[in-house]
Amino acid sequence: MLQATTREQVRSVSREWRQAELKIALVPTMGKLHDGHLSLVDEARRCSDRVIASIYVNPTQFGQGEDFDNYPRTFSADRKRLEQAGCDLLFLPDENTMYPFGLENQVRVLASPDLTADLEGRARPGHFDGVATVVARLFHLVEPGIAVFGEKDFQQLLVIRRMVSDLGFDIRIVSVPTVRESSGLAMSSRNNYLKPAEKTAAGKLYEVLCDAARKAGDRQDDFSGIEVDAAEHLERQGFLVDYVAIRNSADLNQPGPEGRDLRVLAAVVIGRTRLIDNVAVNRLGFPEL
Ligand code: PAF
Repeated sequence: MLQATTREQVRSVSREWRQAELKIALVPTMGKLHDGHLSLVDEARRCSDRVIASIYVNPTQFGQGEDFDNYPRTFSADRKRLEQAGCDLLFLPDENTMYPFGLENQVRVLASPDLTADLEGRARPGHFDGVATVVARLFHLVEPGIAVFGEKDFQQLLVIRRMVSDLGFDIRIVSVPTVRESSGLAMSSRNNYLKPAEKTAAGKLYEVLCDAARKAGDRQDDFSGIEVDAAEHLERQGFLVDYVAIRNSADLNQPGPEGRDLRVLAAVVIGRTRLIDNVAVNRLGFPEL
């Protein structure tokens, strides 16, 4: 596996591959890689000729008081896992490579307000601007034909799709379903913060979301009732609930009764760890209302 740290290094390899007409897929990560990340690399391999993974803990997507300083950094284990997974190049930029004019003077991308006013965007002001900014920078440096993201961060996925479409990047965004522990807990680098008992309890989140998704799929059009029931259920299980929301998958707006492609999204706190997750609602099989 090749490794690049500077703009020039990553550009010269990706340019060479493009000139050889090889299709490049980028898998952006912040490291502390788990099986969920490896499923992104697998998908990238399936749909391209060369895979570039980046590891960069992006300061601009962390708010004040969030875990930027403590975010797990496990470079040598990550490197090994990527190599075993068949990644062709690991891009490991430092802050000067990603933000050469410094964080104060950076040019920023503002994520679309209609996608970020609510849910994670409300809970973490500025977070999606930081994500959009760093992903746009990675896209410019690597110039992939494809970029792969997980559905676990569903709002992030929509923000990136919109950015690509609005700014006219010639990049296909591929999404990959969430990989889960046997308890149902969605894999996340932040699961590391959970104490063993919290980790066991955290599996309940998926169970409750699946139950809400089933109810929403059973033509129960009282979405807010389903949300309230799910939130109360989670609170009884010891979670502090930030939100449980049933939304349109395409734009995260509140669905009408005719909504077909929906998602149940939630954010909860257990102990000192904030978890997010989401589950698809399948209402596609119903006849037209
Ligand atoms: O999903 C992540 O790990 C990050 O938000 C990303 C997309 C790598 C940008 O820093």
